[in-house]
Amino acid sequence: MGLAWNGTSSPNPGQEREAAGHCHWACGRISGGMDGLRKPPLTKPTQSVNRFSSAEWIEKKETIRQNCSMTPGNSETEGSKPAMLGGHQLFLSPPTMWLYLVALVGLWKLLRLFRERQVVSHLQDKYVFITGCDSGFGNLLARQLDRRGMRVLAACLTEEGAEQLRSKTSDRLETVILDVTKTESIVSATQWVKERVGNTGLWGLVNNAGISIPSGPSEWLNKQDFARVLDVNLLGTIEVTLSMLPLVRKARGRVVNVSSIVGRVSLGGGGYCISKYGVEAFSDSLRRELSHFGVKVAIIEPGFFMTTMSDSAMLSSNVKMLWDQTSSEIRELYGEKYLASYLTRLKGFDDWHSKDLSVVTDCMEHALTSCHPRTRYSAGWDAKLFYLPLSYMPTFLVDALVSWTSPKPVLLPKTSPLPSSQD
Ligand SMILES: NC(=O)c1ccc[n+]([C@@H]2O[C@H](COP(=O)([O-])OP(=O)(O)OC[C@H]3O[C@@H](n4cnc5c(N)ncnc54)[C@H](OP(=O)(O)O)[C@@H]3O)[C@@H](O)[C@H]2O)c1
Repeated sequence: MGLAWNGTSSPNPGQEREAAGHCHWACGRISGGMDGLRKPPLTKPTQSVNRFSSAEWIEKKETIRQNCSMTPGNSETEGSKPAMLGGHQLFLSPPTMWLYLVALVGLWKLLRLFRERQVVSHLQDKYVFITGCDSGFGNLLARQLDRRGMRVLAACLTEEGAEQLRSKTSDRLETVILDVTKTESIVSATQWVKERVGNTGLWGLVNNAGISIPSGPSEWLNKQDFARVLDVNLLGTIEVTLSMLPLVRKARGRVVNVSSIVGRVSLGGGGYCISKYGVEAFSDSLRRELSHFGVKVAIIEPGFFMTTMSDSAMLSSNVKMLWDQTSSEIRELYGEKYLASYLTRLKGFDDWHSKDLSVVTDCMEHALTSCHPRTRYSAGWDAKLFYLPLSYMPTFLVDALVSWTSPKPVLLPKTSPLPSSQD
């Protein structure tokens, strides 16, 4: 073990605490310089050693002060002298330090695992309302929670979607038609939920409904294109939450908002990333406000998964449509080559989008069933290992990386000198 105590007990503790203990620790930590400081005597000290006159004491303090200051002389001794604690030397060699660190992280992970594995009781009596259950994550989550025995209230955009879902689940699962962009649809779905949950309240609200198009370079879009995406992904989430909140509060339940890893690092133009940044902000403020009522708010941040909204054929036809609609000036600036390389990139997505949607729905299920849900769930290896670390990097690095991997317009403007004041 790299931890060693130099000396047994202090023969003159008062003096040592005053003259050495405090400063040894600070000196050792700051500059590593211990010159001028007396090592604890190993033999029994004489009376004269125990007492200083005022002049001696002032001199001593001055020596300590000088040793504590960062001088080039002191820095030479850095690393060669051990830190001191209360007059005792404290050795922590780098390998030992790492060992302690790894052990601490391991212990913390174990404790967290144990804490998070505790499941809430009476799941079969708890109601969960999920939006966007026609396909993708919402559809899978509805089936998963139904299998788990929870009471699922699944909202679908279309009657076909609702019918298909009912055909694959137990009789306990019920469906309702909901368009999150329409206030009257939200009001009537809330009334429908209220009738079912009664006095028990709504345990879980999952805001999952979302769209990804129109999406493309921002310059190719107009305000309505942005508004369409924001209307579903952000304002829909907000309005459904506000409407259902009294029911969730009654159950002291959970709100689970589906954001995305692009709610942390913006990777494309259009309303999608903006909407997910908005979902993150909304969820953060909601969580802080609702904690007073015992309601928990969790955010799901998936990486890229293969669903209807990420289907490359659908995304490509949307980009082609935007290209056709944009002005001839923009088309000339970007060039056909840009469009071609944009479409090739979209096609490539299919290969590396994860097909295992349960990675995401498991996070959602955990947020709804664990006694101690997390605040944020990064779902998928791409999210955990690439996008999340990327989101913590300096902006210039993220800019360089994104620009390096993006298609380039053909007519990049030449930098023209600014007109001088004499012109
Ligand atoms: N797939 C990914 O890589 C990914 C990554 C990060 C986050 N997400 C998020 O995950 C959530 C679910 O998306 P998904 O990947 O599962 O895609 P999805 O299969 O397209 O699911 C989206 C669902 O929302 C429904 N919907 C669309 N507009 C709606 C509206 N106005 N009102 C109510 N429902 C509406 C869709 O219904 P229809 O099928 O009838 O259109 C569909 O059921 C979204 O919030 C999305 O942003 C997805």
